[in-house]
Amino acid sequence: METFIQVAYLVASVSFIIAIKLLGSPRTARIGNWLGSLGMLLGIVATLFYKAVVRYEWIGIGLGIGTALGAWMALSVKMTAMPQMVAILNGFGGAASALVAAAEAERSFLEPTLYPSAFTLLTIGLSVAIGMVTFSGSFIAFAKLQELITGRPVMLPFHHLQSLLFLVLSIGTVIALTVAGGAPLLYGTGAASFLLGLWIALPVGGADMPVIVAFLNSLSGLAAATTGFVLNNYLLIVSGTLVGASGLILTHIMSKAMNRSLWNVLFAAVGKGGEVGAVTDKAVRSTTAEDVALMVSYAKEVVVVPGYGMAVAQAQHAVKKLMDALITRGVEVRFAIHPVAGRMPGHMNVLLAEADVPYDRLCEMERINPDFPQVDVVLVIGANDVVNPAARKDPNSPLFGMPILDVDKAKTVIVLKRSMNPGFAGVENELFYQQNTYMLFGDARRSLEAITEALKEI
Ligand code: TAP
Repeated sequence: METFIQVAYLVASVSFIIAIKLLGSPRTARIGNWLGSLGMLLGIVATLFYKAVVRYEWIGIGLGIGTALGAWMALSVKMTAMPQMVAILNGFGGAASALVAAAEAERSFLEPTLYPSAFTLLTIGLSVAIGMVTFSGSFIAFAKLQELITGRPVMLPFHHLQSLLFLVLSIGTVIALTVAGGAPLLYGTGAASFLLGLWIALPVGGADMPVIVAFLNSLSGLAAATTGFVLNNYLLIVSGTLVGASGLILTHIMSKAMNRSLWNVLFAAVGKGGEVGAVTDKAVRSTTAEDVALMVSYAKEVVVVPGYGMAVAQAQHAVKKLMDALITRGVEVRFAIHPVAGRMPGHMNVLLAEADVPYDRLCEMERINPDFPQVDVVLVIGANDVVNPAARKDPNSPLFGMPILDVDKAKTVIVLKRSMNPGFAGVENELFYQQNTYMLFGDARRSLEAITEALKEI
């Protein structure tokens, strides 16, 4: 049986690695997802044959509740609420790792013949510490994204000093636990790390949330990997390390997309000031679907810039129909994809793939930015922060330094949104007031349908 379990773990580990490779391209992502899930199923089934598992009642109850909750979440949570869901699941992952490690420690503290080695105590301490930071940090991220608390950075008096204190306490208690063992030090590690997680996540806000969610995702993997050492479970070590490493890579990509370092995201509390919806008396030019239809029909090339509003309006199918109508008329159509457009990595790619927009029409930011000055018409569909020129020009803006799609340089810009409300970062967008910009107010899906309809008359 032991050989079967180890072989099953090996097959599961390999399937995780191949799954990650397949997830790297939209063409193979679906099969990658399946392969990863199958690997996970194999790992779970093999673990159930483990000789330490002698009774199945509690496992069955846990599986039942978890499956029901998971299915309910997968069916009911809206695509726009995905980041919150990822945040809360990271938190549960961290808590599970910490609880399993703590239970293992408690069991061995009670039985002197089982008293753990210093190495096991170290891994228990690290698992509890990283798991608790992940748990509390993720719940703050969830509360911010769900708007249960303010989404802006929150800094308490002497905040960083307090964070440093909790960090020193966490590390100190892990070292003491390694040396001396004992339940009080275990609880001390848990408490200090719980507070550290809160203090790390509170000052992060606004447009930096994707970075902290990716970072916490990475920590949840590290917590699982250290718990793998506690339990001597190779599959947990491999899968935890994969999550930890891929989470770190994602954190790096997200930070790069914001042109910030992780250190700056965690400690600079950028966007704390009161920039929200600064009142302005500048005038914007609004337009109609009929006029937009005229403009796009005479264009040589139209570039579509999708953003979070396209997800809210579920306008991906409407934009595909408009694309088809334009291509039939000989207009070239491309899509410009910003790495943090929407509310989760790859959000726009997923939506456009759902509507069967061919991948070769999707262009990354670096590739399309030099082309904007030659583009006749840009259709900005529910995007705001990712096209805000303040990121290039205004050092006081919380977006300053974030690379953006340079749509302001195009010949004509048409912005589809419902109002003059700001986007996620809460800042005004001067693009809307430019000479070459027209606002088409209304729900993006309805506006796109109206443009396609009007196009038929031309
Ligand atoms: P945002 O800056 O959030 O702007 C979205 C715009 O969509 C809003 O201004 C809103 O204006 C409009 N909108 C909402 N519902 C709409 C509807 N039904 N029809 C038409 N328009 C609608 O979006 P973005 O440009 O995609 O930027 C993403 C932001 O989210 C960045 O700041 C990014 O850092 C942050 N973020 C990203 C992620 C990831 S990983 N992608 C995760 C968390 C946060 P109205 O209300 O006036 O319609």
